Order: sequence, then structure tokens, then C-alpha cells
Amino acid sequence: MQRVNDMATTTLEFSGSLRSTIGRTPLLRIRRLAPAKPHVELYAKAEFLNPGGSVKDRAALAILDDGERRGLLREGKTILDATSGNTGIAYAMLAASRGYKLKLCVPENVTPERLRILRAYGAEIELTDAMDGSDGAIRQARRIHEAEPDRYFYADQYNNDANWRTHFDTTGHEILEQTDGRVTHFVAGLGTSGTFVGIGRRLRAHDAGIHLVSVQPDSPLHGVEGLKHMDSAIRPGIYDPTLADEDVRISTERAYAATRQLALEEGLLVGVSSGAALAAALDVASRIDQGVIVTVFPDTGTRYLTETFW
Ligand SMILES: Cc1ncc(COP(=O)(O)O)c(C=O)c1O
Repeated sequence: MQRVNDMATTTLEFSGSLRSTIGRTPLLRIRRLAPAKPHVELYAKAEFLNPGGSVKDRAALAILDDGERRGLLREGKTILDATSGNTGIAYAMLAASRGYKLKLCVPENVTPERLRILRAYGAEIELTDAMDGSDGAIRQARRIHEAEPDRYFYADQYNNDANWRTHFDTTGHEILEQTDGRVTHFVAGLGTSGTFVGIGRRLRAHDAGIHLVSVQPDSPLHGVEGLKHMDSAIRPGIYDPTLADEDVRISTERAYAATRQLALEEGLLVGVSSGAALAAALDVASRIDQGVIVTVFPDTGTRYLTETFW
């Protein structure tokens, strides 16, 4: 199925599959919040427009495809992983569409919206202690898998190369196409790090001079859903700390403020990690006189409406 903006040039198909709606997201120009500099452009990849509402649709699709291709995921297996929500929603959507069962280990402080969405797709959820964060969920998923390895396909998004590779093959490639190869700076938050590592490697393969900026919360106890404080967390196996030219820290308060601004001044109702990415991208924009900065807005703000910061 073609997206609307492709319609003018291509034949419209009416029999598209769910997978055909994942990816090929628009690259949005951020105009009102960007500094008024004639030679600085700021763009955000609108990953909240994926069908599951987040960038994680891409990783989940790639991980399940890879598992099926390698014969590890097949009829009768239950998909298992730890997730703070978005990857779980993506797995749940795809598992339902392919007829697989799904079991997720989720920290109990996940927003109620996410839990309701997961349950609507029929996922089985095991809540883990909020104080243990996403690491507690990871440890529980490992325990479940070790106890019954034959029953589960352990998707393991933190250590699965299919995660970053799909961003190399799809998201990174799209950013090069959508900017006509003009991108000079790339800014993205670190969760599993799949987005940053995959896109970063793709952009570097195109031009070794592209400046890569990774974004983390500034403390272990933070409110930036989806991002990890790498120094204090279980480090994802796919994370490559040598890739970034700069690794910046953003406070929860700054991420909240930028998220509010995106809704009020750009008309973009996105999640808190988008606010963190914007704050870091604005810091880059404020110190250069020329360049094309691209960042990623990972998920929709409708998943955070019960939060009080709005
Ligand atoms: C809201 C949100 N932002 C950012 C990320 C980070 O993406 P990645 O896991 O590719 O590093 C995630 C990952 O779950 C997320 O849910």
C-alpha cells in the first residue's frame, strides 16, 4: 500500500498488508522552534506515524522476520521479551496479525494507556517491580526463557542485531533520500540504541564527516520514557559507545518542557523522548551557522496523556 504522498506518481494498491504501513515516515521541518538562522535546517523523522504509534514497529518487524527466517520463530512458539511499552505494542500488533502468542515483561510503572493497548492486542503481561526499571523486566524475561527455552522465541531486542540493522537498511536510507544526502548532523536518543546505531552507521557509510549526537537522560532516576541512562543500566549488547561524536545528557524537566512546546508551537503531540531529542538538536542548532540537522521523534504523545507535566 502506498502512502498518500506517493499517490501522484505511483499506482495505488488497495490490498496492502500491515507490514507495508511500517516505515517510509515523513521528515518534518521544525520551523517555529528552530533558531532563525538562514543556513540551518532542522528536521524530525515522524516515527510516531507508524501503525503501532512508534519507531519500534521497525525493530519488532525486523526481529520477528529474522526469527522466522532462521527457523527460531515458528508455529507453536510464544514470543517473549522485556519492554517498557512501545516494542511490546509493536510485537503485540504483529503477533496478533501472524497468529503467535506473546508474553511481555513490563515494569509496573508503565503508563496505563500502554497496558490497555497491550491487553487489547491480546498480549500476556508480567509486571515487574517499578524500582528495578527496565533492567528488572530484562532479568525476568531471561529467567522465563532459561526455565523453558523450547517454549519461547526470546526476541531480546537489546542484543538482537536485526534491531539496529533495520535502521541501517530503512530509516537511515530514508533520511539520506529525504535530505538528498545533505544531512550534516544526526541526533537521537538511546534506548536499546538500535535507532541511533543503525542510522548512525548508515549515515557514516554515506559520509564519514556527519556529526552524530546520542542523547541520554542526565540521571538514573528519570522520566524520559524509552531512554536509558547507560552508565547505570544493563548495557545493550548492540550499543556501540564509540560511534557518537558527542553524547549529551538532558534533564527530565527540559524534556518535558520541549515536549509541551512541540504540542503548543509545532502542533506535534509526541512523547517525552521526542522532547529530549529536540532539546539536544536545538543545542546543536544554536552553535552552528550552517547545516542540516535531523532527529527522530520516536512515539506519539497520546501514550502520555495521564502524565501531569502537560
Ligand atoms: C519512546 C521511545 N523513545 C526512544 C526509544 C529508543 O529507541 P531505541 O531502542 O531504538 O534506542 C524508545 C525505545 O523503546 C522508545 O520507546
